[in-house]
Amino acid sequence: MSNPSILILPGDGIGPEVMDQVVRVIDWYGAKRDLAFDVSTDLVGGAAYDAHGVPLHDDTMAKAQEVDAVLLGAVGGPKYDDLDFSVKPERGLLRLRKEMDLFANLRPAQCFDALADFSSLKKDVVAGLDIMIVRELTSGVYFGEPRGIFEEGNERVGINTQRYTESEIERAARSAFELAMRRNKKVCSMEKANVMESGILWREVVTKVGEDYPEVELSHMYADNGAMQLVRAPKQFDVIVTDNLFGDILSDCAAMLTGSLGMLPSASLGAPMANGRPKAMYEPVHGSAPDIAGQGKANPIACMLSFAMALRYSFDQGDEAARLEQAIETVLADGARTGDLMGPEGGTPLSTAEMGDAILAALDASL
Ligand code: NAD
Ligand code: IPM
Ligand code: MN
Repeated sequence: MSNPSILILPGDGIGPEVMDQVVRVIDWYGAKRDLAFDVSTDLVGGAAYDAHGVPLHDDTMAKAQEVDAVLLGAVGGPKYDDLDFSVKPERGLLRLRKEMDLFANLRPAQCFDALADFSSLKKDVVAGLDIMIVRELTSGVYFGEPRGIFEEGNERVGINTQRYTESEIERAARSAFELAMRRNKKVCSMEKANVMESGILWREVVTKVGEDYPEVELSHMYADNGAMQLVRAPKQFDVIVTDNLFGDILSDCAAMLTGSLGMLPSASLGAPMANGRPKAMYEPVHGSAPDIAGQGKANPIACMLSFAMALRYSFDQGDEAARLEQAIETVLADGARTGDLMGPEGGTPLSTAEMGDAILAALDASL
């Protein structure tokens, strides 16, 4: 049987820097755990625009549809700010999500013990935190029609449409309940049913899906209250399920519970393929971080934890995923810190590659 295939799309800014460290980890699994992958690499975002004039070439899209998993770094950056909207780097990422139909975006926020002191919140608020945000990823206001900038009388109007079908809500909700069954059996659904019809439908459909999971405790929260509760008492949550835009915002918010946006991984999953594996793309939650790009300062952990999610969700290698997560926990406990994980007390931060060195050494030590 051939090796499982991975398409790597490093992208822009710090994307290639953090992905370099993931490639080392992938090579390590091939060399030390007899877990070899067929890896190919291609362009996305601004890098694809520079080469092809589009943020995702059709050939790259076709490859993404064929592989067992896609790993993506980050896209975007100031160099591309003035491009026409249709070819902006972010459109490449959105096309991947939409055409692969990756409707369930899993964004776990876990606070590693070693970083509990570092969060901007009090230690007892975040210590031991382990929540999972399930963000619907292929619909809602990101994709709803009508959209655009139109002339209206003597001025322009910008329009985006929040639109959800019952089946779109249902499949995202089902993912959340399935995850909750393997966790602490709690789902909190967040919308704005007090002001949005799409929120009313969201609440109705999630409630209906919940009837299939009587063991799971379901609650509903308005998303603005949810944002407040996430920083007030985040440990009240187990699984949060929410729409595309609220999920985008709430997951960045959850990032700071873990200490840094450089820590948060994600898995975007679709329907099972013929081989039984879900269509999948794995990417850190953070962006291309133009302010630190090219300086070797980026934290590679979010991207590495995204590969751990690939091991777990695409390759059925939960033990090996746990090995990588444990290696990361170990180096953090030993005091390894990139700049984003350093407090006002200072110290000399590790470079991206040095953090990679430390994690590879911890992987070696795990054997
Ligand atoms: P960002 O996530 O790139 O950066 C926000 C802040 O977090 C910056 O100060 C950055 O230095 C820091 N940061 C992020 N990741 C880090 C890491 N791994 N290590 C250390 N520090 C890190 O968000 P932004 O500045 O709003 O966006 C920059 C560009 O990235 C934009 O073009 C945006 O559209 C794009 N973006 C892409 C993705 C993606 O590819 N999935 C996600 C978010 C933003
Ligand atoms: C994310 C990003 C993307 C989003 C952008 C870059 C399209 O912010 O993955 O969280 O808004 O979904
Ligand atoms: Mn985001």
